[in-house]
Amino acid sequence: MVACAARVIAYDPAMHIVIAHNEPGAGLAWQRELSRRLPELTVSIDPGCPDGADSLSGARAHPASAGLPPADIAVGWKPPADFFSRHPRLQAFFSTGAGVDHLLRHPGLPAALAVIRLEDAGMGPLMADYCLHELLRIAGRHDAYAAQQRSGQWQELPAFTREELPIGIVGVGVLGAQVGAHLARAGFTVRGFARSAKSIDGVEVMHGEGAWPAFLAASRVLILLAPHTPQTDNLIDAAALRLLQPQGWLINVARGALVVEADLIAALDAGQLAGATLDVFRREPLPADDPLWHHRAIRITPHVSAPTQVGPSAEQVAGKIGALARGERPSGQIDRQRGY
Ligand code: NAP
Ligand code: GLV
Repeated sequence: MVACAARVIAYDPAMHIVIAHNEPGAGLAWQRELSRRLPELTVSIDPGCPDGADSLSGARAHPASAGLPPADIAVGWKPPADFFSRHPRLQAFFSTGAGVDHLLRHPGLPAALAVIRLEDAGMGPLMADYCLHELLRIAGRHDAYAAQQRSGQWQELPAFTREELPIGIVGVGVLGAQVGAHLARAGFTVRGFARSAKSIDGVEVMHGEGAWPAFLAASRVLILLAPHTPQTDNLIDAAALRLLQPQGWLINVARGALVVEADLIAALDAGQLAGATLDVFRREPLPADDPLWHHRAIRITPHVSAPTQVGPSAEQVAGKIGALARGERPSGQIDRQRGY
C-alpha cells in the first residue's frame, strides 16, 4: 500500500513500469526518483535505451531489465523503434517532457494508447525567467554592446522602453500563461494567442484564425510556445513575419518546426527583423555547419529554456499513476486528434 495524494492506493504489486529515455543518465535518474515514490512497484529501464544497456552489463546498481515481463506503464522520451512491439500491454505512456510531437510521430505508437504529458512540473518558472532575460537583453541593447565590444567601440545607445516592445505569445497554455503573467508583472504589454478563449492576469488573449493578423500586427517581440502539430508546422513564415511591427524579434522556445528558417534568415538580412533567439531547432543537436550558428542577429541556446526537473516530474507522474490505479483519468492526457 502506498500513500498518494492523501489516499491509500492498492497497487497490483505485479505492475511493471519501464523507463525508455534516449539520454544517458536520464533513465537512471527517473528510475531512482520513481522507485522512491512507488516502492511497491518494479521500475526497470528498457534494455534498448542507453542506461538499460548499462543495467544489462551490470555496470550500475539497479534491477536488471532482463527476464521481466512486458511493462504496464512506460515513462520516457524518444523510445527506441521497436519499443512498443516489445511492450504490447501498455496502459499508458508518460512523456518526460511537455511536448509529445516526437512521440506522436513514432511509427510503432499504438493508436489507442493513452499518452500523458508533463504539466509544468517546475518548467514554468524556468521558461518565464528565460523569456524575461531575453526581453531585458533586447531592451538594454546588450547584443549591440556585445558587437561593439568585439570591435573595441564605446558608444552609448538608447535603451528600448517597455512601451516600445509589445509582446505577443503564440500558445498560452500551461507554460505560455506563466511566461505572459511574468512578463506582464515586469511591466511589459503582453498579448497571447491560443486556439480557444482564456483569461490570464495582465494578458490580453486573442484566439481564432480571424484574430491572427491583428495579433501579429500588435506584436514587436513574438514568443513561440505552441506545440508542434500539423497546424503549427511552418506557422511562422515570411507572411507572418511581415505582419510583425518593424524591427521586431522572434523568441522560439517551442519547437524548431514552427519556423521557416529560410524566411527567418531573409527577414533578418533585410533588416525587417532585428534579431532572433532560438532555443529549439528542426535538427537537434544543431549541426556544426548550420548557417544559423554564425548569423550576427541570432542568439542560440541548446534547448535549455525549461529542462525537465526530474524530482518534481517524477512526483507528478507517480501521482498520475496513482490516479490510473484508482481507475481515474489523469490530467495532461493528449488529444490524439488535436496533436497536443
Ligand atoms: P499546453 O499547455 O498544451 O499549451 C499549448 C498552447 O498552445 C495552448 O494555449 C493552445 O491553445 C496553443 N495552441 C495549440 N495549437 C495552436 C495553434 N494551432 N495556434 C495557436 N495556438 C495553439 O503546452 P505547454 O505545456 O504550455 O507547452 C507548450 C510547448 O512548449 C510544448 O508543446 C513544447 O513543444 C514546448 N516546450 C519547450 C521546452 C524547452 O525547453 N524549449 C520545454 C517545455 C515545453 P488552447 O489553449 O486553445 O488549447
Ligand atoms: C521540452 O522540450 C519539453 O517538451 O518538455
